[in-house]
Amino acid sequence: MASTLDTGTIESRAIARAPKVRNFNPTSKFFHWLMAAIIIVAWIIGYYGGAMLHYGVNDIETAQKVWAITLHKNIATTTLFLIALRIIWRLFHSPPPLGEMPAVMKTFTHLGHWSLYFLMVAVPVSGWWNSSSAGYGIPVAGLFTIPGLGGKNPELTPYLVTAHWFLSWALLIVVAGHLAFALKHHFIDKDDTIESMMPTNRED
Ligand code: HEM
Repeated sequence: MASTLDTGTIESRAIARAPKVRNFNPTSKFFHWLMAAIIIVAWIIGYYGGAMLHYGVNDIETAQKVWAITLHKNIATTTLFLIALRIIWRLFHSPPPLGEMPAVMKTFTHLGHWSLYFLMVAVPVSGWWNSSSAGYGIPVAGLFTIPGLGGKNPELTPYLVTAHWFLSWALLIVVAGHLAFALKHHFIDKDDTIESMMPTNRED
């Protein structure tokens, strides 16, 4: 009789301490939202600059093109540093476990997250490499420049430009899928997935 009461007390204490919603730690949230904002801005400016490179013909368009690509590089190179720090952080801090879902959905979710990490490395590295192969400088946030990757090799540039184009579109598609699933969790499953990444959620 006494042991049943004891177990009950322990269980109710555990329930009282259990978080109401799953929650990422503040550093993971910081990396998530800062990188999301930078990647979206870098993508839009890169798209605009890339389109100018392909279609720009007169002096005004050439100046706009150089301005857009330089701005694109200044913004996007910051993700090289952020993703390195984010991966180190992630190695030592596991995310909260996934919510209730079929095993196949869990596999799909992990695949999506690994694709995002892969592309967050591959997209800026391919941009860095394509600019370096063309012999251009690599500015970071208007503060300093980083050395070229692989040295000047203009013969390689068209292939690296294509790789950067392909990878940046793959990133856009995976990010769109990530957003669509987050919205599905919120509006259809009505679970705490979106809340767990919100800076305003301080449950723990
Ligand atoms: C978050 C990282 C990045 C994203 C999301 C991104 C995205 C893009 C996109 C969407 C384009 C347009 C592709 C096209 O339509 O042709 C582009 C072009 C370009 N990006 Fe990036 N980029 C990133 C990082 C970088 C970095 C780090 C560099 C160089 C240091 C770079 C250099 C370039 C250059 C030179 C172009 C023009 C290529 C061309 O069309 O000839 N990018 N980028």
